[in-house]
Parts: sequence; structure tokens; C-alpha cells
Amino acid sequence: MPDPTSTPQSAADNVLRRLGEVLDPELRIPITEVGMVGGVEVDRHGRADVTIKLTTEACPMRSRIVTDVTAAAVRAEGVRTAEVQLEVMTPQERAELKEQLRGGAKVNRFAQPDSLTRVYAVASGKGGVGKSTVTVNLACALADRGLKVGVVDADVHGFSVPSLMGITDAPTRLDEMILPPVAYGVKTISIGMFVEGNQAVAWRGPMLHRAVEQFLTDVHFGDLDVLLLDLPPGTGDIAISVAQLLPSSELLVVTTPQTAAASVAERAGALSHQTGQQVAGVVENMGPMTLPDGTVMELFGSGGGQLVADRLSEQLSTQVPLLGSVPLDAALRESGDAGTPAVLRAEPSPAGTALRQIADRLASRSRGIAGRSLPLSPA
Ligand SMILES: Nc1ncnc2c1ncn2[C@@H]1O[C@H](COP(=O)(O)OP(=O)(O)OP(=O)(O)O)[C@@H](O)[C@H]1O
Ligand SMILES: [Mg+2]
Repeated sequence: MPDPTSTPQSAADNVLRRLGEVLDPELRIPITEVGMVGGVEVDRHGRADVTIKLTTEACPMRSRIVTDVTAAAVRAEGVRTAEVQLEVMTPQERAELKEQLRGGAKVNRFAQPDSLTRVYAVASGKGGVGKSTVTVNLACALADRGLKVGVVDADVHGFSVPSLMGITDAPTRLDEMILPPVAYGVKTISIGMFVEGNQAVAWRGPMLHRAVEQFLTDVHFGDLDVLLLDLPPGTGDIAISVAQLLPSSELLVVTTPQTAAASVAERAGALSHQTGQQVAGVVENMGPMTLPDGTVMELFGSGGGQLVADRLSEQLSTQVPLLGSVPLDAALRESGDAGTPAVLRAEPSPAGTALRQIADRLASRSRGIAGRSLPLSPA
């Protein structure tokens, strides 16, 4: 029943307050703060009419916005039913929104000296060791802890992040600005969202550099606590571009436990030497797995992670920690195939638990200056 003491005007105010709880699915900002609420009217019978202005006609999130707005409006006191009308912003309104989001010029905000975002580039000397799986699971575990997290799939040729995150939405374009899809609270961008089907991306160095640069300047991530970049294997063009575009990014080196894989350390170390990036730590993946009868199976050997951490510490003359060992675990592959990262699954898995612990270690690292070369010269 509508509250007889509430006038239509105050009911409209109640609706507006409730709409402040609705986040734009891509911007993750209340719709009331980005000029998306065109008007609210509530009649004597408690029927609310809400006009919502979409950023673009082709907004892929239309139905989600209608559902969320309707649900919020009927929660308002004095409202029984709600109807949502969709309109599209005028070019002028869009320009204002872009200006507001960007807060000025078009820049790579992560490269600014005052940026508080920790940036981790997930690297490995060779392919198939689980970089993408580790990236996605760490991102989701960090977001689950309440941090604001973004992922850039910098593996332009071999992109795999969208499917690991179960993302089928395309980014929304706001003229030349790109709003990334959000999955499990993580803002995610990948070249895979811009190509049709499973088409190959056949680009050479400069184009790859430009693609990564565009991800960092044109994609609206907002203020992030952590940005993770999934690098292609090895130390090629993209790894170097990322280091140039994000000079304060740190490397997370993923390796298998094979001691032979320790040669990876030399290469990742060489990259870090060449680019001046710090190595935040080593993640051992596909590590020893405990079978139901208690025996431990070491399909890829053991000890490689520690060996890589030790070699890197020696090479870089700074302490590079082994952040953890993620066991071989069918649950990790299955959850990746299903697009629901293992760290978020209700039933805990050995790999999911290990990845959560690594995320906890990353979250507790302060943005210290340890190991950073200070711009001082001896007197
Ligand atoms: N700990 C693990 N246990 C079982 N399977 C795993 C584990 N880690 C990764 N995998 C599986 O191994 C395969 C390769 O993983 P992933 O794609 O993450 O590696 P990558 O290093 O990103 O590969 P690329 O170099 O091709 O980018 C995937 O099928 C993934 O599900
Ligand atoms: Mg990968």
C-alpha cells in the first residue's frame, strides 16, 4: 500500500535516493552521479516513471539497467510499481560525462608519478605455465577482498582472459573512450573483445605497442588499487612495451616446478634488468599435488619455484620471494574452462586455496621503496 502521508514529490525523492544505490554496470559509479537519470515522477497511485539516459543507443547493458532501476524504484517508500523509459544522452551530455570520468586530458593514469595503483605484469619465460590462469584468479581473489581491480590482457596474439572470466559482453564505447566489461568485480579489457569470433590477430610490433597503449589510455578503469597485466610468454615486444608504458610496474614471474625451468629466471631476470622493473615475486604453478590416498605426485618435479626465486634474488641483488606454490589441480583447469575462477568457487580446491593465499600476500604488500633504486648519487 502506498503510504498516505507521503506526497508524490517526496516519493520521487525517495526513488532518487534509491537510484543512488544503482551502479552503472560498466562504470561502477552510481547512475545518479553520471547524469543517467533523466527524470523521476510518481503519481498518486504509487506508479513511478523513471527516465534513464544511456550513454549510447547500443548499450549492451540495457536490460540489466532496466532491471536494476526497476528493483531500486519499487524499494522506495510510496512506490508500488515502476516503469523505466530509456533515452540516449545527447552528444553534449556525453561529452560532459567523458570529461567528468577522465578528469582532464587523455593520459595513461597508471604512469603518473602520483598513481597509487600497484601494477603487476604477470610474466614467464615460456608458454603454457599458467600465467593467464594465475592472473585471473589473483584478480578475482583481490576483488573479492574488496580491492578495486583491473586486468589488461596484454597477450594480444594469444588472448585468453575473456573466456577464463566468462566474459561475453563487449566493451561500451563512449566515442573514443572505452568502458571495460566488469566480471566478478574486475574491470577487464582484452583484444579478444574487439575481434569477431576466434579470429587471429596478426599484428607486428608497433601495432601491438599501440594496442597496449590504447588499453592504458582509452579504457576507463577509474581509480584502481591493483592492475594486473597478463603478458604473452617470453620477453618479446609486448613485455618491453608494458615496461615502457608502465615504468613502475612490477613483474610476477610464473614458473613450473621443473628445475630445468629455472633457466626462465635468467630470462625474466634479464627482462627486469633491461627494463628496470622490480620483481615482486615468483609464483610456482603446476606444483606437487596430493592424491586422495595421501601420496604426493610431482608431475613437473619440485623445487623450481624456490630455485627461480633464489636465482633472481642473486641476479638482482634484492630479495625476490617465492609467493607460493599452486598445485596441479583439475579443478583449476575446469573452472577456467567454465569461466568461473577457482578462487571464487564455493567448494574450496587445493589450487584455489593456494591462489587465495598468494593474493593475500600481494594485498598485504605495501607500496614500499624497498629494492627501488633511489635517485641519489654518492657524495
Ligand atoms: N595448477 C594447474 N593445474 C591444472 N591445470 C592448470 C594449472 N594451471 C594452469 N592449468 C591449465 O594449463 C593450461 C595453460 O594455462 P594458461 O593458459 O593459464 O597458461 P599461460 O601461461 O597463460 O599460457 P600461454 O603462454 O599460452 O599464454 C590451461 O588449460 C589451464 O587450465
Ligand atoms: Mg596466457
